[in-house]
Amino acid sequence: MKKIFPETFLIGSSTAAYQVEGNNSNSDFWAEEYADGSPYRDKSGDAIDHYRRFREDIALMARLGLKAYRFSLEWARIEPAPGQYSRSAIEHYRDMLQACREHGLTPIVCLHHFSSPQWIMRDGGWAGAGMPERYANYCEFVFKELGELIPYALTFNEINLPTMLRDLFSKIGIVAPVGIDPASWSAPEWRASAARLCGTTPDNYVTFHMISDEKTIAILKEAHRKGRESIKRISPHTQVGWSMALSDIQAAPGGEAHAADKWRLLFEQFLDAMEGDDFFGLQNYTREVYGPEGQLRPEDGAELTQMNYEFYPEGLGHVLRKVAKALTIPIFVTEHGVATDDDNRRVEFIRQGLEGVRSCLMEGIDVRGYMHWSTFDNFEWNSGYAMTFGLIAVDRATQERMAKESAHYLGGIAQGGAL
Ligand code: BGC
Repeated sequence: MKKIFPETFLIGSSTAAYQVEGNNSNSDFWAEEYADGSPYRDKSGDAIDHYRRFREDIALMARLGLKAYRFSLEWARIEPAPGQYSRSAIEHYRDMLQACREHGLTPIVCLHHFSSPQWIMRDGGWAGAGMPERYANYCEFVFKELGELIPYALTFNEINLPTMLRDLFSKIGIVAPVGIDPASWSAPEWRASAARLCGTTPDNYVTFHMISDEKTIAILKEAHRKGRESIKRISPHTQVGWSMALSDIQAAPGGEAHAADKWRLLFEQFLDAMEGDDFFGLQNYTREVYGPEGQLRPEDGAELTQMNYEFYPEGLGHVLRKVAKALTIPIFVTEHGVATDDDNRRVEFIRQGLEGVRSCLMEGIDVRGYMHWSTFDNFEWNSGYAMTFGLIAVDRATQERMAKESAHYLGGIAQGGAL
């Protein structure tokens, strides 16, 4: 049978530690959940107990036919206090990497997926002096221990998300893809209470989601550079990059200037820090259309996802083409997914998304893999457990896993099947 994708093309799925592990009570998000006035719909609690169940979970991914697993490490577990590293946490992640190896899944490891240790807030959070060095020290520890097991590393997930959240979603009043809803973005009491729970004051409390001004973006870029340097020094074989959230930005007549501004703000302003990266992680969920007055709401009758943004799988191919014009390094799709309770729509979303990837490959664009978001229905930040992004459903009362049709579909394609 003729393969649809090259033999080396990696097809798999993604998770993030905070959304699946459970009980990350040393992380800043935990404080945000428990703070007075928190807009979080649910508490993450045990999440889907992936911290304990990872072996069965990885075995299930392999049985489904998937070839790669993108997951993240929880910094607050690995370094629970400044400079103090947890042997038990690092051994846990070693076991996860070994389980991937045993089951033939290529791991793509993200060192920071939104959540940070609470202790960094005592010193100015992401605006604090010395953050790039702190972050690089954490990377150094991880790679000294685990480097040989990690072929691909993302320093940060969605480096540009805070810029996108602040600038875009809050203005048009739809739910952001993650984390912060428009009302809570500026909720001072909630922030003050979360700061207290982290043992600090609001002026020191700067989470990853607040990195959207020139000063903090520069700190983040520097953290990426320094983290990458540490990783490459210790583990030269590891391919290093970061990921960005990129909607398919389109212009309706008269909206060209707005669309071009957005692209600069969300993509081009980050390019300088990517010099020296080995690959780029692209994450796409929908499109944004701009008119003369700014962003337009989806047209009446457009199909919306549970997140209230448009079901638009063809966006993936469009964004791949746009990004490829600016980059000379390989691209991995590190997230692409849809929140829906109709799994047939997820199958369709994957099918159309992968059609786009296939056309890009045929045009000669260097795409190396596709990681679907998400492996499981999981904790969708402020939307709690209401959003179902997973290939695999989870009964949270029993923690039983139930693979959906979309999981079999994607696994079949990973094994060389048709779209
Ligand atoms: C994030 C995930 C999130 C997903 C769906 C992405 O922006 O990386 O953490 O769950 O979108 O909203």
